[in-house]
Amino acid sequence: MKLLAFSGSNSSTSINQSLVTSVASMARENHEVDVIQLTKYNYPLYGIDLEKAEGIPATIQSLLSEFSEYDGFIISTPEHNSTIPVFFKNVLDWMSRMEGKPLEGKKVALLSCSPGRGGAAKALAFAEKVIPYLGAEIVGTQSFSSFGENFNDGEILNLELKNDISNLLAKLV
Ligand SMILES: Cc1cc2nc3c(=O)[nH]c(=O)nc-3n(C[C@H](O)[C@H](O)[C@H](O)COP(=O)(O)O)c2cc1C
Repeated sequence: MKLLAFSGSNSSTSINQSLVTSVASMARENHEVDVIQLTKYNYPLYGIDLEKAEGIPATIQSLLSEFSEYDGFIISTPEHNSTIPVFFKNVLDWMSRMEGKPLEGKKVALLSCSPGRGGAAKALAFAEKVIPYLGAEIVGTQSFSSFGENFNDGEILNLELKNDISNLLAKLV
């Protein structure tokens, strides 16, 4: 499969971006995988008035046009106050305003990551519910806790978590 990996973070030092970059390397054993940062485009904050006045932003359309080249995605979301960050929700909200289902037929391996023991599991559960509205199929999920202990220098140190992620990637077929 041709896969695209990205995080739902807009932080230049994102731990979720570090995680997906590492998971992308694992996935390269079986797939062609690219990594992007969603911040490569700018997106205005969704508002119905803005949408009526200007339509869907060209940057959202560019992102979706990029997405269309891939069979599936490896996504990791951070957690902000028990849900996904506003930055990520904003991108999903704009995408949901496209005609039809913009991610129809795409498969998603969905992760979440936090520095704490919760592993951003609440954000993961939220994203798992919302992303299918865009037409994508979530093949499986994995939360990644205690990032500082379980990850170093681009590598997943916790072998149990690494194995769980390998099993998740195996569902991307
Ligand atoms: C506004 C805000 C709210 C946060 N809320 C949570 C939370 O509910 N649960 C959690 O585990 N971490 C929370 N955090 C900590 C994030 O997990 C941490 O900042 C993490 O690095 C975010 O991922 P990122 O580096 O990929 O952006 C919060 C951080 C911020 C800035």
